[in-house]
Amino acid sequence: MSAQKIILLNQKGGVGKTTTCVNLGSSLAAMGYKVLLVDFDSQCNLTGAVSGNGRKATSYDVITGKAEAEAAVQETPFQNLYLIPGSIDLAGLNVELVGEEGMNFFLRERLVVLDSQFDFIFVDCPPSLGVLTMNALAWAQDILIPMQCEYFSMEGLNMLMRTVADVRKTINPDIRILGIVFTMFSKRNRLNADVVQDTGSYLPELVFKTVIPRTVRLAEAPSFGLPINVYDASNVGSKAYMALAKEVVKRVFED
Ligand SMILES: Nc1ncnc2c1ncn2[C@@H]1O[C@H](COP(=O)(O)OP(=O)(O)O)[C@@H](O)[C@H]1O
Ligand SMILES: [Mg+2]
Repeated sequence: MSAQKIILLNQKGGVGKTTTCVNLGSSLAAMGYKVLLVDFDSQCNLTGAVSGNGRKATSYDVITGKAEAEAAVQETPFQNLYLIPGSIDLAGLNVELVGEEGMNFFLRERLVVLDSQFDFIFVDCPPSLGVLTMNALAWAQDILIPMQCEYFSMEGLNMLMRTVADVRKTINPDIRILGIVFTMFSKRNRLNADVVQDTGSYLPELVFKTVIPRTVRLAEAPSFGLPINVYDASNVGSKAYMALAKEVVKRVFED
């Protein structure tokens, strides 16, 4: 097998990257796929959300060559779901790596050994377009963009599209945008529905049909170290991430 390599990308913070990484990954694992999540943000929210810890090796150790990727993979309490935890040390990498030859390609070089061991590998990025995100963009096949259903998100999206065009011209000609997923949708907010509709008609092939609702359960689950399908499988958020997982499988394997 050769893993599908997907990056969660949006230079804005608080848009649902980590929540989508955990719960999409966990839904795919529940469907029987072998899934690896890589926490590539110094905040390490992903690590805690699947009951992981950085006591062994971390993604920082992997990218700096202090540990082999295989040694950094840890099991989670959830079947088929594995983690390379994050580290606060990632915050210093911009400074540490700048100017080093090939600095955008370290992650790709180090993770390649894992390709044959998983069906899906997700890298959860920090909210910036610095060296960490560039490393993830050089590694990935597919970009998944979580976005809030707000008009100001559109400006960010234009910038993101320009970045992706640059990445294609430079470090990764084959990368594609798998899709845009709207998060934190609120039925009571008319504007939310307008944004989803407008974007859907402007970029019809890119926007996933599944929209992730705003629900307290999705915000609570990480504090228990549980993905939503384990914390509350009957919740609307859990069902939405399962539906998204099915759409992702269809796009990746059938289209
Ligand atoms: N669908 C949702 N419903 C309610 N809260 C959400 C939802 N998605 C994310 N959140 C909460 O919003 C905050 C930001 O989400 P997060 O996934 O951490 O964003 P990012 O990784 O892009 O910074 C977190 O506190 C998270 O629990
Ligand atoms: Mg995050």
